[in-house]
Amino acid sequence: MSAQKQPIAGSIVILDFGGQYAHLIASRIRRFGFKAYILPSDTKAQTLKNVAGIILSGGPQSVYEAGSPQADPAILALDIPVLGLCYGHQWVAQALGGKVAPGTVKEYGPVALKQTHGDLFRGLPKAFTVWMSHGDEVKELPEGFETIASTVNCAHASMQNLKKKIFGIQFHIEVTHTQHGMEILRRFVDLCSPEAWSMTSYAAHVGEEIVREVGDRKVFMLVSGGVDSTVAFTLLNKVLGEHRVQGLLVDTGLMRKGEVVAIQKAFAPLGIKNLQIEDASEKFFAALKDVYEPEKKREIIGRTFLDVQREVSDRMGLRIEDGWMLGQGTIYPDTIETGGTKHADKIKTHHNRVELVQKMIEEGLVIEPLKELYKDEVRQLGEELGLPHELVWRHPFPGPGLGVRILCGESELKIENVQLKIDMPSIILPVRSVGVQGDGRTYRHALALFAKDHFCPMDEHYSLASSIPNGSKTINRVLFCLSHAKPFEISFTPTYITQEVSDLLREADAIVTDAIREANLYEKIWQFPVVLLPLGSKKGGHSIILRPIESTDAMTAAAYRLPKDVLQNITNAILKLRGIDAVFLDLTNKPPATIEWE
Ligand code: XMP
Repeated sequence: MSAQKQPIAGSIVILDFGGQYAHLIASRIRRFGFKAYILPSDTKAQTLKNVAGIILSGGPQSVYEAGSPQADPAILALDIPVLGLCYGHQWVAQALGGKVAPGTVKEYGPVALKQTHGDLFRGLPKAFTVWMSHGDEVKELPEGFETIASTVNCAHASMQNLKKKIFGIQFHIEVTHTQHGMEILRRFVDLCSPEAWSMTSYAAHVGEEIVREVGDRKVFMLVSGGVDSTVAFTLLNKVLGEHRVQGLLVDTGLMRKGEVVAIQKAFAPLGIKNLQIEDASEKFFAALKDVYEPEKKREIIGRTFLDVQREVSDRMGLRIEDGWMLGQGTIYPDTIETGGTKHADKIKTHHNRVELVQKMIEEGLVIEPLKELYKDEVRQLGEELGLPHELVWRHPFPGPGLGVRILCGESELKIENVQLKIDMPSIILPVRSVGVQGDGRTYRHALALFAKDHFCPMDEHYSLASSIPNGSKTINRVLFCLSHAKPFEISFTPTYITQEVSDLLREADAIVTDAIREANLYEKIWQFPVVLLPLGSKKGGHSIILRPIESTDAMTAAAYRLPKDVLQNITNAILKLRGIDAVFLDLTNKPPATIEWE
């Protein structure tokens, strides 16, 4: 949605400092039924003088750094309610004469909050859990402000100046994991009294956009079998008609077990026949030969998808000159994580956002009907379209598939000498994975914890999964070893993506899916990546990481706690696979880790 062209009067405007959640705030307000738009952080106060309220988003930088994004200070004198969140909270404090500096302890993930009396907290419990993602904090309040909430490590977690209707909140009220977050946001929205906005149905709304964008052209749609591209493809078929849509399912060799057959079966009852299947696995394995670096892998996979698409469309005679454009199932998190807004940091390049695609988007050659939606909205749309429940509620599976779940490496990564203050056996693994802290990317080691009762992580292990990454520059993930009760000597196995390694991971992944279906947990768990590491306890061995999480929209996630018997069954079955000699459980939330490892 191009915000600048929208009539912003009477709406709530989110000024975007590059935060991962800026779009989520607007989406939440729209779901309340009110108008909300996102504008650049430096939008002039003059432009904003008729809006109902202003929210300042988070951002990856520090407000006191030279060159960091700033808003027009005059917005604070417009007599319009203002709410600063995270970086926005810090910017308000600094702009009005308060002080912002690095916090003594950084906070990423769940934190206990104590609130005293703030207007936005009226009627809420005195203590509840909120999600933080920050390194800096407000040290001194500006004049006229009072502190209304704090945490053990953050004295001014929220502030208000009721007379001026200016509020600041360090934590993220917009993410589902913050308790009472929606109530706090709703209080602020009610204070602003914005104009109403409605979207009667996702299908009608997205359908109108498709007709407008496609015009009289036709769409060649890349379908992966995941929820998003399936929903997008079905909608395109309904809106444009089968004769103006062609689907292409590329078998990358990096898909789940039985995937291609399952997808064909899912479309058959819908009467959708315009789906071409292309086995390109050899091409993908060749392109990924000797590639170790996660971003490089993502770039290559995205590019190879396009190569195959071009080959097939040429073969089928579906050329741009003849009015064909490319369709993709991109959803909003794919855009924001690729650094898709002005000040946002790149967390990872999603496969449908590689450079070549960006160029095609600029040329108006790509349609992405779901690009403004989150997974829960896509699912609602899928239900509206009458897609089978099982398909709509399938776990999300990333386009690059197992390609970003096989950690590659030629030799082990050197670990700096780190002193960890923990009272239990542990080892730092000589591999790194991606994380997100304070709206920025991290690429750090994982720490593995060991316990005598090795099928059963305890509360203390989960709590270390928050505190260790919060206080360490070396570690962004904490694991629990399910296969061994004591630390063992790590043996590194040079690994890159091959058919053989993919087959091995595919089997481990299938074991997990079968086990959680059998235990009736499939729909309770939001996503369950199964990851292969290039290290084990024996020469030539590999390890498997289990990463069950619960989430709503993938923007934040909490580690899902599996029952002991399920962990034991999965571990025992995986250890029977040839070449796997260790199994770990990932206990880390997002933030500080991301859901996928790469
Ligand atoms: P992270 O790992 O960033 O993942 O917390 C958030 C969600 O996005 C999925 N994901 C992708 N989906 N192409 C996709 O279609 C990609 O390149 C990609 N990378 C991550 C991930 O599985 C999770 O649901």
